[in-house]
Amino acid sequence: MALPRIIGHRGAAKHAPENTLVSIRVAAAQGASWVEVDVKLSADGVPILMHDDRLDRTTDAKGPVSARSFEELRKLDAGGWFHPAFKGERVAALSETLELCLELGLGINLEIKPCPGRAEETAGIALSMALGIWPQDRPPPLVSSFDPLALSMARQVVPAWPIGYLVDRRPADWAAQADALGAATIHVNARRETAQTIAEYRATGRPVLAYTVNNPAAAKEVLGWGVTGVFTDTPEALVKARV
Ligand code: G3P
Ligand code: MG
Repeated sequence: MALPRIIGHRGAAKHAPENTLVSIRVAAAQGASWVEVDVKLSADGVPILMHDDRLDRTTDAKGPVSARSFEELRKLDAGGWFHPAFKGERVAALSETLELCLELGLGINLEIKPCPGRAEETAGIALSMALGIWPQDRPPPLVSSFDPLALSMARQVVPAWPIGYLVDRRPADWAAQADALGAATIHVNARRETAQTIAEYRATGRPVLAYTVNNPAAAKEVLGWGVTGVFTDTPEALVKARV
């Protein structure tokens, strides 16, 4: 699997409102060849991009994301909270996100980020849709999640697509879990890792991706440990520093 060195995190979250189409465009303009986005469902089961379970931080509304229909979500402002220049930016649908990545020639990491209790449903619906949109002659999306139920469902719905085993504090049985999920890659929190732990992951034969690395010196350090690529809110900073 050809993996990138720099992956725009939530698009380019330092420069544009995270998980929106404009954020993906900015990441591409800054030189990222891949982006990572967080995928969850509206109340009526439409896959959208949003990190939090609640609307409060990244829209002009409040309350749980899963209480709003797609039509209701589309009326919200998902840009003005970040900067007035982005006012009017809409909550992104997964479908248009995939179309945009295809148009821009970007690779994509779909992080399934289900609202509570909706892991299998979210992975099932989102990945069935993605399978219908993503052409077979393009390298497939990389699917990751902190939720093992979401990853098990991914194995069933898109068996040919690579799965990223995503961890924050790694559990004692991380290697067995990665095996059980058929993981192709391991995605780790850069701040919790050392040269030693990265070597342990790599000893399983899997490439490692590390999040979220915005400081070029920190990026160079983890890449020096054998990490293949980093998720960053600022592709520009890492590109400029020739990371
Ligand atoms: O997928 C890498 C990273 O995005 C995981 O953490 O909370 O930023 O989605 P989070
Ligand atoms: Mg994420």
